Amino acid sequence: MHSFRYHNGNLHCEGVDLERVAEKYGTPLYVYSAGTILDHYRRLNSALRDLDHSICYAVKANSNRAILNLLLREGAGFDIVSGGELFRVLAAGGDPQKCTFAGVGKSQDEIEYALDQRVLSFNVESEAELAYIDRIARSKDLRAPIALRVNPDVDAGTHRYVSTGRSENKFGIALDRAAEVYERAARLPNIAIRGVQMHIGSQITDAAPFAEAIAKVTALILQLKEQFALDFFSVGGGIGIVYESSFASGSGDWWSEKDRITATSTLPLTIHDYAAAILPPLRALGLRVLLEPGRLLVGNAGVLLTRVRYIKQTEHKKFVIVDAGMNDLIRPALYQSYHEIVPVREPDDSARELVDVVGPVCESGDFFAQDRELTKMHEGDLAALMSAGAYGFVMASNYNSRPLPAEVLVQGESFSLVRRRQTMEDLVRGECN
Ligand code: LLP
Repeated sequence: MHSFRYHNGNLHCEGVDLERVAEKYGTPLYVYSAGTILDHYRRLNSALRDLDHSICYAVKANSNRAILNLLLREGAGFDIVSGGELFRVLAAGGDPQKCTFAGVGKSQDEIEYALDQRVLSFNVESEAELAYIDRIARSKDLRAPIALRVNPDVDAGTHRYVSTGRSENKFGIALDRAAEVYERAARLPNIAIRGVQMHIGSQITDAAPFAEAIAKVTALILQLKEQFALDFFSVGGGIGIVYESSFASGSGDWWSEKDRITATSTLPLTIHDYAAAILPPLRALGLRVLLEPGRLLVGNAGVLLTRVRYIKQTEHKKFVIVDAGMNDLIRPALYQSYHEIVPVREPDDSARELVDVVGPVCESGDFFAQDRELTKMHEGDLAALMSAGAYGFVMASNYNSRPLPAEVLVQGESFSLVRRRQTMEDLVRGECN
């Protein structure tokens, strides 16, 4: 669900008119709904209330400090993949002891930083990394808490770039080797075994692969529980969201119960379905469960606002050239992903046309929609690229020397700038002739 609705003729985020926000901070502009993020967090928490669990938000999905702060005040922990993400969590006021540190290529500096900060666990992805962490911990006279990331070889049925739980992927340790690697870990003097971790992919829209992966690692966990003092089993993230037709039009109160239910029922995989599939096998394990959702919490909570610069009619096509580009939101170019595009002025839908919506970047891959039927747009119109809250700003770059967009967080009737737009000076900072 999300809190973007038409109200008095304009698209609103919660109680805030998006035209007003765009006028104040310019475009391209990311706008996030705090209410949506909190609602998703609370729904997931409550669906799992019968299970001893902790939600460790996957910071990579959207690492703005204001969002981290919002979630940590709800009690969230964090799944981090770099020293930079740990730094952000600390800057937001987060507790390092609620952080799990994942990633296949952790550096010495990152491992030292995470050890010094006493993170909850290192999610170890190879035997080489295990030995490396042991060595660094020894030099500090510490024991590094670890979980091995096991690769259950399950097909998550998602885009091949975000599928991680197959044996051909670079992630994790093959399930049939895991017991042996745990034995080895137990013999390393500066390693403390704490748990088991897995993550099979992202944007998964069916509960079956999650259940299949849990079933596959159950025997290993039961065996490890006998041998070691396991503290947790992390089932990773990956719950998919709606990208198409997520937009529930309709006027009225932005926070009405009716709207919530309408929007929620369009989820491909509801939180309820997910919980129903994973709860019985997880409860039977009798271990604390960690979850690492990213997209589920923030994906539908953000839009990228953009303004139409020019309309270009060629012999073959009509192009709507907007001021956001692939450098601001790379998902369509990288994963051929779909983002709904809606005008900020409520359309009457009488005039629709087939267009390509493209950005100003000098690449043919710089598009947000191709041959899509949209409400007729004109120069100067504002549009929202929906469901851009996850893997949007965090994947933005300065390509074509375009300053990074600003970010705004809406809470009820108020909104605040949570990251200012980059300036030209920012573009050359740190460079010299
Ligand atoms: N845990 C681990 C170990 C991960 O690698 C990821 C995401 C997550 C949790 C969170 O997954 P989520 O709940 O957000 O699906 N840039 C791509 C998505 C890459 C996901 C990478 N790993 C996209 O825009 O679709």
